[in-house]
Amino acid sequence: MSEAEAANRLMRLAKEIARHDKLYHDRDAPEISDADYDALVRENRTLEERFPQLVRTDSPSKRLGAAPATALAKVAHARPMLSLDNAFAADEVEEFVARIKRFLALPAHAFVAMTAEPKIDGLSCSLRYERGELVLAATRGDGAVGEDVTANVRTIGDIPQQIANAPVVLEVRGEVYMSKADFEGLNERQEAGGGKIFANPRNAAAGSLRQKDASITAARPLRFLAHGWGELSEPLADAQYEAMKQIEGFGIPVAELLVRCDDVAAMLAHYRAIEKARADLSFDIDGVVYKVDRLDLQERLGFVARAPRWGLAHKFPAEKAETTLEAIDIQVGRTGKLTPVGRLQPVGVGGVIVANVTLHNRDEIERLGLRIGDRVRIQRAGDVIPQVVENLTRDEMRPAYRFPTRCPECGSEAVAEEGEVDVRCTGGLICPAQRFERLRHLVSRGALDIEGLGEKSILEFIELGWLNSPADIFRLRNHRAELLGREGWKEKSVDNLLAAIEAKREPDGPRFLFGLGVRHVGIVTARDLLKCFGTIEELRRTALSEGGEAELSSVQGVGPVVAEALVDFFHEAHNREALDDLLSEVLPQPFMSAAKQTEWSGKTIVFTGSLETMSRDEAKAQAERLGARAAGSVSAKTDLVVAGPGAGSKLKKAEELGIRVVSEAEWTRIVAEA
Ligand code: IVH
Repeated sequence: MSEAEAANRLMRLAKEIARHDKLYHDRDAPEISDADYDALVRENRTLEERFPQLVRTDSPSKRLGAAPATALAKVAHARPMLSLDNAFAADEVEEFVARIKRFLALPAHAFVAMTAEPKIDGLSCSLRYERGELVLAATRGDGAVGEDVTANVRTIGDIPQQIANAPVVLEVRGEVYMSKADFEGLNERQEAGGGKIFANPRNAAAGSLRQKDASITAARPLRFLAHGWGELSEPLADAQYEAMKQIEGFGIPVAELLVRCDDVAAMLAHYRAIEKARADLSFDIDGVVYKVDRLDLQERLGFVARAPRWGLAHKFPAEKAETTLEAIDIQVGRTGKLTPVGRLQPVGVGGVIVANVTLHNRDEIERLGLRIGDRVRIQRAGDVIPQVVENLTRDEMRPAYRFPTRCPECGSEAVAEEGEVDVRCTGGLICPAQRFERLRHLVSRGALDIEGLGEKSILEFIELGWLNSPADIFRLRNHRAELLGREGWKEKSVDNLLAAIEAKREPDGPRFLFGLGVRHVGIVTARDLLKCFGTIEELRRTALSEGGEAELSSVQGVGPVVAEALVDFFHEAHNREALDDLLSEVLPQPFMSAAKQTEWSGKTIVFTGSLETMSRDEAKAQAERLGARAAGSVSAKTDLVVAGPGAGSKLKKAEELGIRVVSEAEWTRIVAEA
């Protein structure tokens, strides 16, 4: 076995063993026998003895015997915990500010004051105080639902249990982190005691916080820095900067390097100052965060997808390293995309051993002129998957790499559509990789969450011919007798599995939609979509209707990329068939919106002509907030037309159809009163 093969195998073993640990300890649902588990552990040990230089920081040999992974209770956030868009270059920061001004319809020479502060490399946590008492602490999770870590957070010295003079409801959000010195100390103690060694302070903080037994957290040196808030019973201030000072006044730490900037030059100067101070800071940071200072403007700006329009993370440059590209493997995803993965001679980049890189697609390999054996420069930025940035041996004579024209999994033709860079397998559900990946995604934790239907069982059922489509999951009960006769299946495990499947006949709508595996539709987007359309049927109807793509892309949280993916998905006959089949077995629950219901919920509004106090985008965002949909053209389905000066054919059509038409000023009143 070559070193690259060994590194590869060790990576898979680490993942595989971690997964089985979780199934066994957390969920009491082992998928393999003790003997099979021991064989994996033995294989890992033997390989590590042969290749000691390849021992991974997350190696199972370092973890075995340590506290089991935890299963913490889930809690829904009162307000979603969002993330930030990233920028790497100064001109992206300029564009961010310009975009904000355009959205707010401000003149180009105006400046919107911004705050700038370090981006802490920890894990985000929301602390809820009611009448000054800490009552709940939760991790971010998927942004909508996190994990309850209240008992653990109570052991963190930086976080007060009580605060005086606080609003009745106060949610403070920030990062739980570990200082660089405390991280070193912890790893020394872990090593001495044979415990798990952490790769970096961030992982150490996450591993320490997410413990079922809070006494373990108590023994770990965790810290906290606030950077914002969630639900509040009353506003803290009119501006971000003052609000953070208020939070500091409550006795909760806030980064010292928080400043207010009056122009882009000041923002960039603060970025450089923080970058310079980076090495001397006691904790890891990975960039600078800018936020619009005035909170009324933040409110107007709102969110797109899962990030606010009013905030930006300006990341520090990525860390780089050189190594050799030893192989290129092709992975087939659930949408049939062939993704080339580079297998590297393992190399350390910024404290993490990297053995694999994504090569993105066929064009990228061509652009870099990559061939097996080339020396490459790779980079890793924050939590982004490492990538190759440069080929250092382009001019050496070696055969060119040929991208496959057939799917390595099913042999079907693999093609790139006109104007597309991705090469896709055309096999659809006949391709075992696509079928497997789709099924695995559908039953995964974030989607239907069917316990006990793990990878191994899915593969087994596919091989038996029982699982050809998603709906077949719900027909597995027809195979109960045959399954009982199979090795490894006992009455109890079979009945548990079938009961877990039956329990998901009326799944949560957004989880179901997410589980369909439409490209770019994550759980947050799925929720945004169903918030607007209510049911999958309505969403499908819109996606297939004329002008549907434009309508979809104007939904709050959804952009053109998602809209196109939805239209593509629903236009494919085999997707529609698979969905109909699935819907004959299950009944997804319509989405119950927590947002306020207004008389405009579900209505369709068209903006036409020029608007004077706001941009078109802001007007659309306002409509979304009322639960209405902003459409691009007037039809019999339109409920309201907001017409500014210069309105032409749309206004005329509205009048012909007898649709209510209002001015911008009237619209502003409607928004204020809703
Ligand atoms: S503000 C609405 N400020 O970075 C989003 N986030 O990439 C509010 N983070 O999930 C986030 N330092 O966990 C903000 N000074 C800072 C931060 C910060 C670290 C984390 C946060 C967020 C992630 C986004």
